[in-house]
Amino acid sequence: MPKWLKDAVFYEIYPQSFYDTNGDGIGDFNGIIEKLDYIKELGCNALWINPCFDSPFHDAGYDVRDYKKVAPRYGTNSDLYRLFGEAHLRGIHVLLDLVPGHTSEEHEWFLESQKAEKNEYSNRYIWTNAAFQPAKDFLYIGGETERDGVYVLNFFKCQPALNYGFLEPQEDWQLPMDHPDCIATRDAMKDVMRFWLDHGCDGFRVDMADSLVKNDDEKKTGTSAIWREVREMLDEEYPEAAMVSEWNAPVKAINQGGFHMDFYLNWGGNGYNSLMRDYDTGEDNSYFKKDGKGDITRFLDEYTPRYEATKENGYYCLITCNHDTPRPKFNLDDSELKIAYAFIFTMPGVPFLYYGDEIGMRYQKELKTKEGGYQRTGSRTPMQWNSEKNAGFSTCPADALYLPVDTAPDAPNVADQAAEKDSLYNTVKDLIALRHREEDLQADADFEAVYAEVGKHPFVYRRGGILVALNPTTETATAPVSADGWKVIFSIGSGKAENGTITLAPQSCIVLK
Ligand code: NOJ
Repeated sequence: MPKWLKDAVFYEIYPQSFYDTNGDGIGDFNGIIEKLDYIKELGCNALWINPCFDSPFHDAGYDVRDYKKVAPRYGTNSDLYRLFGEAHLRGIHVLLDLVPGHTSEEHEWFLESQKAEKNEYSNRYIWTNAAFQPAKDFLYIGGETERDGVYVLNFFKCQPALNYGFLEPQEDWQLPMDHPDCIATRDAMKDVMRFWLDHGCDGFRVDMADSLVKNDDEKKTGTSAIWREVREMLDEEYPEAAMVSEWNAPVKAINQGGFHMDFYLNWGGNGYNSLMRDYDTGEDNSYFKKDGKGDITRFLDEYTPRYEATKENGYYCLITCNHDTPRPKFNLDDSELKIAYAFIFTMPGVPFLYYGDEIGMRYQKELKTKEGGYQRTGSRTPMQWNSEKNAGFSTCPADALYLPVDTAPDAPNVADQAAEKDSLYNTVKDLIALRHREEDLQADADFEAVYAEVGKHPFVYRRGGILVALNPTTETATAPVSADGWKVIFSIGSGKAENGTITLAPQSCIVLK
């Protein structure tokens, strides 16, 4: 296990929208480098950068055309190597986004694979034997290639699935996992990983990590065996490199696959969704809404067994948001977000902050789709740095921006919030600083719910020798938890521990030691 993960706090950067230094309306590597001091000052000591590789951008870069070359719009490979170096000088680790399940249909491997004559790449993707033979049970495309066959997709139309084989092949076009051509796919992906690790990257966020082996069983035996093999390679050759999976099944990802971390993703109706985004049924019952209709046991019932089952092997990670998820500001105001973030930054595992969530950037629901974003586009708008032109993101004309900046009169920005003592930005900064100061609030320390009752508030939990008590509601809340004599080491709002009771004022959080 890479030791640096224990106190890591990640900042996710969607490179298109972070900071533009050459005035072309889109973010770039030099922009990230210029803002490293900002990230460090906020307290984040690790980055995850969304795919920044050469791509036709039909899915914002998750359609990779060349795994070893960056997209010119962000700069050059040398700029990215410089970014690694500058980040390291500041104690910041950098994860790139690895997309192992599919490539762009414009990737050289696919251009070769679709040729009629057999070649080294013919089996790099999954093809049936004839253009009129469907790839039953899969999404597939036919009629567009020189080759007489249809090919299987992994996601959008632009993303043909790489061939890692089938757990139990059912038809003659389905190769077993140990077929030399499927092993070659695995080796090719390891080669990509080595390439970036050798140039200074510190690991990968892995896209659709569960999607490799087709017809895999419920336990994901095939796919997790491949990841276990990757972990062995890392342990041997790059023991400080870290891997986080987009999987949301920590027993499979961490215990079986050997990932160091797995994301708790926002899936409709799940435990994470119940915290901040439970509004799809029309009524908003999110736990961190101040009207107090939420119920923390919906989160705990799902989270706790997963945490218990995996805590010895890795980290099940909480996120504020990501590039696929509506920003939490969509339904929570800053007073609600402060309590939600107090929770995220004091829980076990490694927290991930999505750029702009530290100032409560809005989810711009009405935006037209960009680069295959659809409803995700609203969470991908330019970072709001100050009140200058284009919120300080770019000097280009407004109509040349990658996506419009939020022009609402009350749109938040970093400069204003940094100057305001009680801003969301300063609360996030204080919370991250608290986490760095207190080992018991970092990734490893034990977690136990101490007071968590259906429909009641506050919620009290223990991390090692620390107690955290949260009251997201607008009513005073008490819990029969004895912490008399414990010292309040952090607070939002106010609260106290007296006479065997913890009492919290409305919308408050206290941390006791
Ligand atoms: C998950 C990524 O987070 C998402 O943005 C992308 O569209 C799909 N995987 C396909 O790669």
